[in-house]
Amino acid sequence: MTAQSQTKNIIVGISGASGVIYAQRLIAQITAAQANAHVVVSNPGREILAHELGIDDICAGNLIGHESKHFIPHDNQNLFSELASGSVPIDAMIICPCSSNSLAAIASGLADNLLRRAAYVTLKQKRPLILVHRETPLTSIDLENMLRLSRAGATICPASPGFYHHPQTIEQLADSLVGRVLDMVGIEHDLPVRWSDPKG
Ligand SMILES: Cc1cc2nc3c(=O)[nH]c(=O)nc-3n(C[C@H](O)[C@H](O)[C@H](O)COP(=O)(O)O)c2cc1C
Repeated sequence: MTAQSQTKNIIVGISGASGVIYAQRLIAQITAAQANAHVVVSNPGREILAHELGIDDICAGNLIGHESKHFIPHDNQNLFSELASGSVPIDAMIICPCSSNSLAAIASGLADNLLRRAAYVTLKQKRPLILVHRETPLTSIDLENMLRLSRAGATICPASPGFYHHPQTIEQLADSLVGRVLDMVGIEHDLPVRWSDPKG
């Protein structure tokens, strides 16, 4: 990766929360937009990919249905990765879904795996960090962690899809959230997330 590169580089961290379909559709959109999706998955994230989507082997074919040079997997245990250094130009990081565990670790400044280290680097470099948190109900610990991270520059984006575009499938429902996240990191898409006045 070079600072001159025109290709966007987005880190997608997948932690062990429910809703990995959001990550699947997010990565499909990022790669379709010819941006690089650097994918880092925690061990619990791997287990939930297998449980919810039947994906045991994390590769482009299994996640987005075809090979893509823009799908770039990274080992969560590899702290020698380029993603662990602020010297490497990355445009934004999205953790999707973000567990309460990862939320707490990042809010505490922990950087003991690549997902957490990349989030720490994203914050210290003042780059966009979007946390698509999923848990319900929330504890005051979650809320305090969110406030702490928001004050540190992160965007807390609860996995809270909208129904006002009348989604007919789970995929369409997921896309109502995915489109909003893509907007936050400047990735073009044509997902139907724009509101227009139905009376207008
Ligand atoms: C099937 C399943 C679903 C889970 N869903 C959630 C969830 O929605 N939110 C959450 O915060 N934790 C959830 N967990 C618990 C996390 O996986 C667990 O706290 C784990 O330590 C997260 O680690 P990570 O943040 O390193 O991925 C779930 C666990 C399992 C087995």
